[in-house]
Amino acid sequence: MIEKIIQIAEEAGEIAREGFRTNFDVEFKSTSTDLITEYDKKCEAAIINFIKKEYPSHSILAEESGSSENASEYRWVIDPIDGTTNFAHGLPIFSVSIGLQKNGKTILGVVNDVMMDTIYSAELGGGAYRNNQKLKVSSTNDLQKSLLVTGFPYDISKYMPQLTEQFSEFLLKSRAVRRLGSAALDLCYVASGVFDGFWEAKLNPWDYCAGKLLVEEAGGKVTDFTQSELNFEKTELLATNGKIHNQMSEILTK
Ligand code: IPD
Ligand code: CA
Ligand code: CA
Repeated sequence: MIEKIIQIAEEAGEIAREGFRTNFDVEFKSTSTDLITEYDKKCEAAIINFIKKEYPSHSILAEESGSSENASEYRWVIDPIDGTTNFAHGLPIFSVSIGLQKNGKTILGVVNDVMMDTIYSAELGGGAYRNNQKLKVSSTNDLQKSLLVTGFPYDISKYMPQLTEQFSEFLLKSRAVRRLGSAALDLCYVASGVFDGFWEAKLNPWDYCAGKLLVEEAGGKVTDFTQSELNFEKTELLATNGKIHNQMSEILTK
């Protein structure tokens, strides 16, 4: 099955690549900063058509078209373009993220780092991979020597001043903090050992479904800020190599 998911993630990536830096329609969703392009719609339609053809009984949760619940124990969780703001501005950091759950547990995850021509994939119990290379999280156990990444929600004003306070504290207590603009890729970079930790105050299931499995299968840890299990709702998320989890959680729960 993973081969089929990789295939559709590649096909959707091709659609996005064709649209990248062309003139396309852009509309607004929840706020004037929350964009949707015609390519978000095109990529999602391609992925959904594929699932409906191959697995017609499965349920689907997709960012742009919502959820279609069937009686099936399987559910697909799709972010057609994670990093839409980057895509809309011509910044080549965005991904296609596809996760598959069985009875609520994620069993497969694929993230296509489109402009890097890189496929991240993981199967529950089977390890995490970047193309064919097995991934392992970093071994840094000192926050001060860690490279961190974060992201911000579109309705950022609701989370002020807490968000900037946490950001300032991590700037002081780590080596550096980055903000790339694709949560799915942030998680893949934690799985790869590039980033030691990632936190974000509010994510949707499609942002992290696949990436969370990648981090866990690479030996890392993913929880909410208090170190409890994620409840698969709109949620705060902390993903680390496991070794700096306590240090980051302490700052996030102050
Ligand atoms: C967004 C990206 C971003 C994160 C936002 C997400 P989108 O997803 O993952 O990095 O900070 O919270 O909503 O809208 O580009 O699919
Ligand atoms: Ca997203
Ligand atoms: Ca998206």
